[in-house]
Amino acid sequence: MGTTTETAMGAATQMPAEKKSLSVRVERATKRFKNTKGRADVVAVKESDFTVAPGELVTLLGPSGCGKTTTLRMIAGFELPSSGRILIGETDVTMLPPNKRDTATVFQSYGLFPHMTVEENVAYGLKVRGMARHEIRTKVEATLDLVGLADLGDRAPGKLSGGQQQRVALARSLIVEPSVLLLDEPLSNLDALLREQMRVEIRRIQKSLGITTVYVTHDRVEAMSLSDRVIVMKDGEIRQVGAPAEIYENPASQFVAGFVGKVAFFSVAVTGGGAKEWECRLNDRGMSTCSCSTFARAVAGRTVFAPSPM
Ligand SMILES: Nc1ncnc2c1ncn2[C@@H]1O[C@H](COP(=O)(O)OP(=O)(O)OP(=O)(O)O)[C@@H](O)[C@H]1O
Ligand SMILES: [Mg+2]
Repeated sequence: MGTTTETAMGAATQMPAEKKSLSVRVERATKRFKNTKGRADVVAVKESDFTVAPGELVTLLGPSGCGKTTTLRMIAGFELPSSGRILIGETDVTMLPPNKRDTATVFQSYGLFPHMTVEENVAYGLKVRGMARHEIRTKVEATLDLVGLADLGDRAPGKLSGGQQQRVALARSLIVEPSVLLLDEPLSNLDALLREQMRVEIRRIQKSLGITTVYVTHDRVEAMSLSDRVIVMKDGEIRQVGAPAEIYENPASQFVAGFVGKVAFFSVAVTGGGAKEWECRLNDRGMSTCSCSTFARAVAGRTVFAPSPM
């Protein structure tokens, strides 16, 4: 039985029967890159350990070079962990090549074939699997409809806008019905307005298909608005995992607070209080009571940081 999905164009599209969603497990994965010129090795990812539940969208968020792409590439099979394991569902896929993993990856650069039309690009994954032509045609139509590109099938990718190209890349990944969708900064080439629209589109499609998704970004607004849960990374390590609101309201460290929110840092002396409230003295200008909702956490009894609304 097919599933009816509301498309970007507002029409209802008959999508193929839903596949069972699978979890992704990154188990104490470390990735060390050997350095050739006698310099120290780069430890891109250190003992990373997390699980993405079936149908969940989890974002890896952190500054440039913190190991987001490397983590995603280990899940996709483009990098072999130096230690640790990758599981999809119950299957240990650590040693399997990308094409044996039931994952699909959308890269920042889209990676479309310029000499093929939109339809041919989207059909490619099914063609190499040897699917019958009439079946491919039906699936391509349904998938282009799903991403709102039903009228542009015969265009060349070079004659599309950035947002349309991004949809083609997404359609090309979705058409093979992967158990896991991996997205590496897929919106970073788009302008702010288009980025916002595509964010909503991706979330809508991901939810309607119930596809387990790992999304990489260094954009906190993107992460906070798109995700079921966010994994904040720094220097190859996971610093905090939680729902967006949880991380925003209760950051585990000054780094997380600074990265996920617009924050003001105050130096205070904490003079008393407990788990939910502290008494603080701010710049010797008298006493103030800080509650958890406004002042997220006292660090080492000296500093309080306050998230302000995004
Ligand atoms: N093939 C490689 N050889 C050596 N070092 C690498 C290699 N790939 C990544 N690195 C290093 O590993 C670290 C993590 O890189 P990674 O690409 O995972 O970061 P990122 O969080 O995706 O950053 P960005 O936001 O800039 O894309 C960086 O220090 C990077 O220079
Ligand atoms: Mg990256």
